[in-house]
Amino acid sequence: MTLSLTTGPAGTRILGLGHYRPTNVVTNHDLIARGVDTDDAWIKSRVGIAERRWADPDETVVDMAEQAGSKALAASGVSPEDVDLVIVATCTMPTPVPGAAPNVATRLGIDSPGAYDVNSGCSGFVYAVNAASAAVLTGQARHALVIASERFSGWLDMADRSTCIILGDGAGAAVVGPSDSPGFGPVVWGSDGAQYDTVTIDEQSRFFRQEGQAVYRWATGEMAPVALEACERAGVAIEDIAAFVPHQANLRIIDALARRIGLPNAVVARDIETSGNTSAATIPLALSRMVERGEVPSGAPVLLLGFGAGLAFAGQVVLAP
Ligand SMILES: CC(C)(COP(=O)(O)OP(=O)(O)OC[C@H]1O[C@@H](n2cnc3c(N)ncnc32)[C@H](O)[C@@H]1OP(=O)(O)O)[C@@H](O)C(=O)NCCC(=O)NCCS
Repeated sequence: MTLSLTTGPAGTRILGLGHYRPTNVVTNHDLIARGVDTDDAWIKSRVGIAERRWADPDETVVDMAEQAGSKALAASGVSPEDVDLVIVATCTMPTPVPGAAPNVATRLGIDSPGAYDVNSGCSGFVYAVNAASAAVLTGQARHALVIASERFSGWLDMADRSTCIILGDGAGAAVVGPSDSPGFGPVVWGSDGAQYDTVTIDEQSRFFRQEGQAVYRWATGEMAPVALEACERAGVAIEDIAAFVPHQANLRIIDALARRIGLPNAVVARDIETSGNTSAATIPLALSRMVERGEVPSGAPVLLLGFGAGLAFAGQVVLAP
């Protein structure tokens, strides 16, 4: 017996982006005022962050996802009735069940879509957007809404100055739909489960923990070849990459990767300076803000590079909406 397969369009594209940042700005000086033993110059020079946003006490992962998703829908011109799939990338829901996606979909007026969450730490958005593209490409969804939303401020040990200064809250979103030609290159993904315990939420304390130097070495040593392979497999020369949007973990990692990859003509995302590290949300948040500022022309090739907890990574070239 054989089963029927659906067929889809010739290609898929990101049709629109949106983002949300909480209104509450937390500067490095604010952290010092809260009793964190640190200084502004250390954070700026070692990590690259001047300020981050933290959600209000009653502002949730789902609230932020709804805001970003609503803006992405508006930017894409796709109406909620035409969305068949909602994926939320997050690792900071307050409890493991329920997931965020069905609730977000209902709030956005998307009636009964396929809906699920992806937890792949800081690389979650690239995994999720790739799954969305595959669903549209195979005719299983007309349009898909992908949102990454994180609320790390609820998981921080304020006595651990090497982690509490880094993380922020926020959300970014993309609508994926059909196009006449491919707007997603092949994803280059992988993982190193031998280092599974270098980035964790500790089971006992419920605090975020990371072995910063191990992750730093892994990211600066292993991720440039992933990015280069993503460009090669997409058939895009390095000189033609218009924007490089890596996970915003540390400005020194971003600069080191940009140097190693080459990228003579790319604008490099430095959203960490004012958003901090928002885990899965950094890539769509940074890209949405770059597009909003007019830094990335429509149709230009953009190199995405997610990496983090797992350790898991995913690199992919996409065309800007
Ligand atoms: C976390 C990170 C910023 C720490 O920077 P680092 O240079 O490795 O810092 P270290 O932990 O080795 O500490 C170096 C010194 O700075 C100090 N320090 C650490 N945090 C500090 C802070 N917020 N303010 C001032 N000093 C600080 C340490 O106490 C240490 O001092 P000592 O040498 O007197 O003991 C860096 O390792 C990093 O960004 N790693 C990658 C994280 C990442 O990519 N995560 C991805 C998943 S989200």
